[in-house]
Amino acid sequence: MKKFTVAILGCGNRGGDTYGNLLTESGKFTVAALCDRDKARLAYYGARFGGEMFSDEEEFFAKKRADVLVVATMDRDHVRQGIRGLELGYDLLLEKPISDSKEECEALLAAQKRSGGKVLVCHVLRYAPAFVLVEKLLRAGKIGQLVEIQALEQVAYWHMAHSFVRGNWRRRDETAPMILAKCCHDLDLLQFYAGSRAKTVSSVGDLAYFKPENAPLGAQKRCLTCPFVETCPYSAKRIYIDTWKEGGCKPSIWPHIQITSAYPLTEKALYEALETGPYGRCVYACDNDVVDHQLVEIAFENGVKATLTMMGFTAGCGRIMRFHGTLGEIVLDELGDTVRLLPFGGKEEVYSISALGAVDSGHGGGDAGLCNMLYEVLSGGGTEGTSLAASIESHLMAFAAEDSRKMGGACISVHGN
Ligand SMILES: NC(=O)c1ccc[n+]([C@@H]2O[C@H](COP(=O)([O-])OP(=O)(O)OC[C@H]3O[C@@H](n4cnc5c(N)ncnc54)[C@H](O)[C@@H]3O)[C@@H](O)[C@H]2O)c1
Repeated sequence: MKKFTVAILGCGNRGGDTYGNLLTESGKFTVAALCDRDKARLAYYGARFGGEMFSDEEEFFAKKRADVLVVATMDRDHVRQGIRGLELGYDLLLEKPISDSKEECEALLAAQKRSGGKVLVCHVLRYAPAFVLVEKLLRAGKIGQLVEIQALEQVAYWHMAHSFVRGNWRRRDETAPMILAKCCHDLDLLQFYAGSRAKTVSSVGDLAYFKPENAPLGAQKRCLTCPFVETCPYSAKRIYIDTWKEGGCKPSIWPHIQITSAYPLTEKALYEALETGPYGRCVYACDNDVVDHQLVEIAFENGVKATLTMMGFTAGCGRIMRFHGTLGEIVLDELGDTVRLLPFGGKEEVYSISALGAVDSGHGGGDAGLCNMLYEVLSGGGTEGTSLAASIESHLMAFAAEDSRKMGGACISVHGN
């Protein structure tokens, strides 16, 4: 079996903990180079995976160092680094979102055409068994003609606080709008299931809650010195330290690994991060401005309709998707662990998501599925469902949704008139 070499740029939660582990554990890839400006992370993953180590992007890009480049840095760096990678002759595994600008998406596509390199975008849900099953049921005509899809993205209150209030994706001037950052997967799935490009999109949403005026009287700026540290559901101590202990003090667990460079995790390092770092801040006293809920309505060119609700205020984290067809319904519920097929006048079929296989690898098995697809694509096979060209469609839908939201819900034509 041929092995490919991989260079990982950005060794955080995705680059190091997800792809680094999955690719090397598959036995189909070896790590030739790692680059991260966080030297502690670099040293940890260097010791784990081997390969040359670079803390400076310029040095890393001085020459091609592997067959594939994994770009897993923050959203705004993907296109710049992707273009440099393609120009050096790499194939790319590119984290989503591609970019929050249409022009940048097009620039990357043009660079791909010039270089001839392959680009697989990490819309991992396309490779998760439950989402693959739904596509098979739809294409087999099990619910007749698809009329409408209702999607609910349950962000979970603690994930909302971690990523979109305290963390990396909290500010619009630093990162992609939340409907792109959190939901380009969902938008990608909707157009894939609809089997058509989106024609129009409208959207409403705002930042309803995580603002100073909603802080309880007496709340402090940091959780560890706050009188509500043991009672507030958003308390950083409860979210990071109590859950880590309850889970058996694992050496590496998301999202805890994102708040400190300490590997393995320790209670001392977690407390230090909460005392001084951004993740110890009160959720009502952060510099966040992205939405905490957003609703999107989509009309596809082939007549299928869809709604997507991105909701920060949910107890659990997972998607619910309902598919309404002329002859039946399909309901996918990640937290309920089921895909239900309900043919009108027929017998209900229930599939257990966890029994579909590989679901514990992250994103319901999508992370592992994507790594398998990468190997197939590099070997000359595979279907490349999340090629760069195909993946841009979901981004255009997100750009239209964000434009619409800012205009108070106006109907926007996704591809122009
Ligand atoms: N496909 C998915 O489902 C999925 C899920 C979560 C995150 N993401 C995306 O993955 C990307 C990474 O997210 P993450 O959660 O791993 O973040 P992270 O903060 O854990 O990791 C990012 C790493 O990149 C490093 N870095 C940033 N800029 C760099 C540069 N110029 N040179 C070298 N190193 C640099 C940081 O030091 C950090 O270690 C983001 O774009 C995010 O939107 C995708």
